[in-house]
Amino acid sequence: MKDTTKLAAAGRPHQRPAHPVNTPVERASTYLFPSYDDYLEGAKAITYGRLGTPTHRALEEAVTALEGGFETRLAPSGLQACTAAILAFTAAGDHVLMTDSAYDPTRKFCDNFLKRFGVETTYYDPLAGEEEIAALMRPNTKLVFAESPGSLTFEVQDLPALAAAAHAGAAKLIVDNTWAAGYFCKPIALGADVSLQAATKYLAGHSDCLVGTITSADEQTAHKIFKALLQLGSNVSADDAYLAQRGMRTLSTRLDRHQQNADELVKWLRKRDEVARIIHPALKSCPGHAVWKRDFTGASGLFGAVLKPVPLPALKAFFNALKLFGMGFSWGGFESLCLHVHPEKHRSATEWNEEGPLLRFHAGLEDIGDLKGDLERAFAAMARALK
Ligand SMILES: Cc1ncc(COP(=O)(O)O)c(C=O)c1O
Repeated sequence: MKDTTKLAAAGRPHQRPAHPVNTPVERASTYLFPSYDDYLEGAKAITYGRLGTPTHRALEEAVTALEGGFETRLAPSGLQACTAAILAFTAAGDHVLMTDSAYDPTRKFCDNFLKRFGVETTYYDPLAGEEEIAALMRPNTKLVFAESPGSLTFEVQDLPALAAAAHAGAAKLIVDNTWAAGYFCKPIALGADVSLQAATKYLAGHSDCLVGTITSADEQTAHKIFKALLQLGSNVSADDAYLAQRGMRTLSTRLDRHQQNADELVKWLRKRDEVARIIHPALKSCPGHAVWKRDFTGASGLFGAVLKPVPLPALKAFFNALKLFGMGFSWGGFESLCLHVHPEKHRSATEWNEEGPLLRFHAGLEDIGDLKGDLERAFAAMARALK
């Protein structure tokens, strides 16, 4: 089956003779076993709300079909998908290799929480190949964490090379696959042990819930992930699992449109005098573009534009004039966003030396002419502020 079919078909209810098209929301903490034998059998089935209801199972099944792994488990947020996956494979005295382009809260988790428990983190250049990673591996390195492309600076990572280096040292490769939404890139097929997502973004797609997904390549990895989530007490509400599942039904159509609108905006922005550089994996100038061409089947709606240096009051005028592009921390929803971001604050292995401000754009599903019009007005406001 192609992904577009899987997105429509996976995680559907199986009851007969009649059933709703989508698995409905089942809210429960307590499940009652009809007999003692059922209770004994319970461990294999639906037993308690925190361990998942049929609503959760439907989402897990759909994500597994999309990512192409052994099993998917849910976390209450994308961030907890990252942190639980890291905790599943580390103990005091261990070492982690983390991409320098990582989502900042993932980074803070390593620098603060993991450190308190005696796990050391080394940051690596997101463009590192097998040799560079091999040189950073230590006997106690338990995992290599990648985020491809980075969600602020968009370096595309060489996952097969990272997998080779990690596996040579008996470490796991964990990939944050949120940008590609499990649709444009399949990290598990490229050698990753775990592909995780903030389903909050494209899978849910409507900016109204928080969910994380963790897909494991094999049974042993899946067992460790399951145990970590269980012992942490993680729980996703059935309502949020349902929303993410419903979002997935239209994922392929939405992503095609996000891609198309991003492509149009990139072409338009490249011609603007105010713009110094666009960072988008589909452009030759993007770090890791050749890897994107090899390993991805498309691009989502999130990209960066470095402006030529501009005084803060003029930048403020630009943002305050935007009506369709909202200023919000997230992305992956149906709406367009634009945010001034500061990668220089979140780096240690590499440097971010751009002179002008970096704007992160999320191309939503609006009419492309209206989006360009919104930016045109904002650039005009910026020009007025410069006079
Ligand atoms: C790449 C990436 N991973 C993980 C997360 C965390 O997701 P959540 O906000 O659902 O915790 C985000 C959120 O912005 C993200 O951009």
